[in-house]
Amino acid sequence: MKRQNRRDFIKLSAMSAGFLGLSAGKLYGADHVMEKLDLLTKVPKPQGRSVMELQVAPIKPVRIGIIGVGNRGYGHVATIQALAPDAQIVAICDIRESRVKRAMDLLESLEHKKPKVATYTGSEDAWKEMVKRDDIDLVVVVTPAPDHAAMAIYAMQQGKHVVSEVPIAFTLDECWGLVNTAEETQRHCMMLENVSYGEEELWILNMVREGVFGTLTFAEAGYLHHLLEKLFISSDDPKLHGYYKQWRLRLHAEYNANLYPTHGLGPVANYMKVGRGDRFEQLVSMSSLEASLHEYSPKSPPENAFYDVKKFAHGDLNSSMIRTNKGRMIILKHDVVSPRPYSRINALAGTQAYHEGYPSRLALYSEDRGEKWLDEKKYQEMRDKYEHPLWVKMKKEAVKNGGHGGIDYLEFYRLIQNLNHGYPMDMDVYDGVNWSVIVPLSRVSVELGSVPVKFPDFTRGNWKQDRELGVYKNI
Ligand SMILES: NC(=O)c1ccc[n+]([C@@H]2O[C@H](COP(=O)([O-])OP(=O)(O)OC[C@H]3O[C@@H](n4cnc5c(N)ncnc54)[C@H](O)[C@@H]3O)[C@@H](O)[C@H]2O)c1
Repeated sequence: MKRQNRRDFIKLSAMSAGFLGLSAGKLYGADHVMEKLDLLTKVPKPQGRSVMELQVAPIKPVRIGIIGVGNRGYGHVATIQALAPDAQIVAICDIRESRVKRAMDLLESLEHKKPKVATYTGSEDAWKEMVKRDDIDLVVVVTPAPDHAAMAIYAMQQGKHVVSEVPIAFTLDECWGLVNTAEETQRHCMMLENVSYGEEELWILNMVREGVFGTLTFAEAGYLHHLLEKLFISSDDPKLHGYYKQWRLRLHAEYNANLYPTHGLGPVANYMKVGRGDRFEQLVSMSSLEASLHEYSPKSPPENAFYDVKKFAHGDLNSSMIRTNKGRMIILKHDVVSPRPYSRINALAGTQAYHEGYPSRLALYSEDRGEKWLDEKKYQEMRDKYEHPLWVKMKKEAVKNGGHGGIDYLEFYRLIQNLNHGYPMDMDVYDGVNWSVIVPLSRVSVELGSVPVKFPDFTRGNWKQDRELGVYKNI
């Protein structure tokens, strides 16, 4: 392993220094830091039983409280309401009264008779009062990402099942906090990784399962989405779809890491059955220079909190390489500032096939030795032959109810069905933290000069069980 020189370590941010237990100004040798890095994999004492395949008594209807009805939460209100009467929104909380009102107006305009919906607003902690209610089964967390883990942990401590938007955690401590609390309370804790339900992604998953790819070797995925101007929006006008208090841009000002790893990584983890026979073992991360944000900054209005900021921490592109226990490799990218078309890349290689997304193309060893993409007819035959059973069954309904082409509906449909019947969740707390822990691990790797960083085993060894993926059960 390449050792870093001592001078590099002096440049650690307060976060990395704090994490590594180094006091400012004191020099430490490379061995010391590598030893400290190994602490990342330290497994704390369990506080309960594993929640893998957790089943609880059927809950019908599922009574829901939502925290955060901004851009994304507002959409969830409509999606959940489409699942009434199996799901029932009983309370809505947002720190901004205007957003609560907008969500209530939406509810009023939707079909299905509803009981009275309680509202909470006006303070940072109003959500706690909502979560304490005894008529809520499931809390849906849709607030800025750094708040997810604390809200989810508190909800479980109040006896509630919880689902959270992505990523579900921002620090290693939060990851363990979620795992330990889920195990202690025996509550469901699922991250809402909607892309795991994508039609293209589930089609690929189905081909993997049917052996079309042969032995999987590597994948490339990412989140490439040009959000530059949107990040700077400071107006509260909901039509502009800015982020509450520019929370996303604030993260870019502070963190140099992959800040949004799960949309690309979740589907790949499923292709590779990570947590179900394989696991992420090691990561190396590197960021490019930062340019787009500070070059755009003077173009924002002078009253903008980020007007004429000379430096942001986050490099324009972050790229991480992950190795799994079986020796598979994943390249994972994050870039939300370069002028480029949207892509999650969605590339997957096996010994018998190769797929690349945006647009979706497939090559098979059995056709031209894989040296050409399948023509339209053959590609379509493969699409039809290997369509995932969920999409076969649900396509019309999913597309009708919308949300990223139907995947948001499928995600909530599965969630509510599983709770209604007392089945396990499609994704468990271990999936959520495994896919989210890229944020702190990539940050540590980048800040230490792209050192290799090991993944903790949140499953405490249970990843070795070759379990079936949730999306093949109880369809
Ligand atoms: N899965 C997806 O496809 C997808 C898409 C977009 C966003 N997201 C995720 O959804 C989450 C929300 O993103 P967004 O775009 O809606 O952001 P947003 O800023 O529009 O919404 C966040 C909402 O939380 C509210 N809020 C903040 N602090 C609060 C508190 N203490 N109590 C109650 N409410 C509080 C804000 O007022 C705001 O309305 C993020 O984690 C984001 O990563 C996921």
